[in-house]
Amino acid sequence: MTILALETSCDDTCAAVLDADGSLRSNVISSQEQHERFGGVVPEIASRHHLELVNAIVAQALSRAGATLEQVELVAATQGPGLVGALLVGLSTAKALAAARELPFAPVDHLQGHVAANFLPGAGVVVGARDAGDSRAQAGDGVDDHEGEPLREPPFEPPFVCLIASGGHTLLALVSEHDGFTVLGRALDDAAGEAFDKGARMLGLGYPGGAALERLAAGGDPRSFAFPGSPGERARRVGSARRKRFADSLDFSFAGVKTALLYAVRELGQDGARERAVDLAASYQAAIVEQLAARAEQALAQTGIERLALGGGVAANGALRRRLRELGVTLHVPVRALCTDNAAMIASAARFREPLPYPRYLTLDAYATGESRR
Ligand code: KG4
Ligand code: ZN
Repeated sequence: MTILALETSCDDTCAAVLDADGSLRSNVISSQEQHERFGGVVPEIASRHHLELVNAIVAQALSRAGATLEQVELVAATQGPGLVGALLVGLSTAKALAAARELPFAPVDHLQGHVAANFLPGAGVVVGARDAGDSRAQAGDGVDDHEGEPLREPPFEPPFVCLIASGGHTLLALVSEHDGFTVLGRALDDAAGEAFDKGARMLGLGYPGGAALERLAAGGDPRSFAFPGSPGERARRVGSARRKRFADSLDFSFAGVKTALLYAVRELGQDGARERAVDLAASYQAAIVEQLAARAEQALAQTGIERLALGGGVAANGALRRRLRELGVTLHVPVRALCTDNAAMIASAARFREPLPYPRYLTLDAYATGESRR
């Protein structure tokens, strides 16, 4: 079976072709750069660009796969969560492609997609103490992009805990089966990637700033500024009932770290902050990484599962990967192109769910937040 999938939940226009056995035949991603000068994604601009790009991206995905539209047997698309205007472009295009040939259609939850990236054969490699026999487990901070060289690794199978950290989401999920997951914890305010981006902006870096902040942090001392790190430790010390509840949960909050950086920058003044930018970046990054890792560690302890998988753009962060490897569990890190938004992960999720027959999907709507209302 040939699956064609579309993903347009934010600012990347993505299409992919996948075979029923999970072999990825193409994975095309067009990132919109028009949002940089606004310092964030402008929903209206994102939707318009998806409209301009979507047909060409689908055509490219098919041609790279050496497939034709006539060979497609199942169409899938992200239904939500995301920017509704952006989602509707991919969803409507995909529904139209399916309806024209009366094909079945699979609506996919975006976060289920990030989870399902791990189910693709060759999606990434396993690193960590439990796989010390793997030569790559010894190398640097784990994996990179394996450019040009297809991976032969088998898919990462449930059960595992999945940490998804991107510009829009921070989620800890318990993955016990191929379709669906249980939410263990999620961001109460900013997403981890958003915290990176806002910190980067305070330090005068461009948007999105996560990767730039990581580069700046490389030469800095992460202990030079005491930004709130592990949520448990500080909240228990400071004390209100609400804080204690948060400390005992598996939820994330990055608002405090962000405010701490803002105050530090203010206190240092423009010149002082510029002089200390490297240490500020290193300390800020360490605080975010510490919270992500501490929560992941708690989730693994609570579930008794010693397998952790990653998703989302923040998974590219080397400091985070290094810190997670220290947890000593089996760690699955997909290649970068499958961590950031892509349609291969949507096709992968579609493989494991019952599709809707024609014409039941024609009235499907996109959703901005929460879970599918199928
Ligand atoms: O998954 P993604 O490509 O898009 C969505 O937000 O869905 O994630 C993008 C986010 C941005 O916030 C970006 O700053 C962050 O991932 N990011 C990083 C790194 N590379 C990308 N954050 C920290 N370190 C990085 N190396
Ligand atoms: Zn995403």
